[in-house]
Amino acid sequence: MTTTWDFGVSQELDLVEHRIRESLVSEEPLLTEIAQYVIGAGGKRIRPTVTLLAFRAVGGKAVEKTVDIAAALELIHSATLIHDDINDGGTQRRGRPAAYLKYGLQEALVTGDFLFSKAFRIGGKLDDDIVDLTARVCAALAEGEILQKRHVGNVDLGWQEYLNIITRKTAMPIATGARVGALLGTGELDQIEAAGDYGMNLGIAFQIVDDILDVVGDGHTLGKRPGMDIKEGNVTILAIHALEDGGVSDRSELIRILRKRKKDWGEVQTALRMIRESGAVEKARAQARRFGDNAKDALEGLPDVEATGRMRDLVEFVLSRQT
Ligand code: IPE
Ligand code: IPE
Ligand code: MG
Ligand code: MG
Repeated sequence: MTTTWDFGVSQELDLVEHRIRESLVSEEPLLTEIAQYVIGAGGKRIRPTVTLLAFRAVGGKAVEKTVDIAAALELIHSATLIHDDINDGGTQRRGRPAAYLKYGLQEALVTGDFLFSKAFRIGGKLDDDIVDLTARVCAALAEGEILQKRHVGNVDLGWQEYLNIITRKTAMPIATGARVGALLGTGELDQIEAAGDYGMNLGIAFQIVDDILDVVGDGHTLGKRPGMDIKEGNVTILAIHALEDGGVSDRSELIRILRKRKKDWGEVQTALRMIRESGAVEKARAQARRFGDNAKDALEGLPDVEATGRMRDLVEFVLSRQT
């Protein structure tokens, strides 16, 4: 999996990459190896891209601190993915076997912690308010993941609680990255707000699309196995829509599968087919589009420059992504 798109900040992204790589060196070679295994597998680098674009959009010039925070946020993201696969029983990540399957559960856990500490080593040097925002993101991520766990198999989960979960686990980190980018770019207060608003809406759209791809995506392109949300009992907006009145053909069968603790892959496939046939994918796509439109509206609060245009393109990329 490599990044094949360019939103006009590829040089800055190279600096972020370099900053990440140099931070992974450890006296314990296994830690470096596992960290490189996860980070070297690629990933879309959406979060650093958003941060760098927000910085550029408000006219930021000296990019060093923004490179640092972008690297820190991507390290936090990678740490979360390692832990998330343990939580979710994910078997594949970025086209490779999940770290805990290749290196062992304890080794993967510690590598996640190692990446968090490296992120704070880099980010901790920045101003207090940025460190504070970053710490809040980590707490929100953990809260989102735990909240999701609490609702495993909960077929009564509604839109509001779903939104709460995805806001914490996905949208807040992206929003914070955008906000900090604009802050470091010395944007005006309302521009910083606009960047944050953009990131929040983009992040929500991003997770809705991720949840759609779990139902309709191709494992090879995605680099992770689809159907995992069903397998693990994570009720997403797709299941919520399918369970709505008049949605799925055999509602009680879908409920039975979603609630079941140990599902076999045949049952997962049945649930996926029922969800696809229910019209849930189309409804979720329309919702993702609405949040994407909100993200674009937020860009009205940023200067009309090239980077802002690229932020608009990024919305389309997120909405149409297959990977
Ligand atoms: C995966 O994030 C976790 C979610 C928030 C859906 P990405 O899809 O951004 O993962 P990478 O970094 O590109 O692998
Ligand atoms: C993203 O949600 C969780 C994180 C914030 C890491 P998912 O559990 O849907 O992410 P994937 O699908 O495993 O990448
Ligand atoms: Mg997961
Ligand atoms: Mg997912």
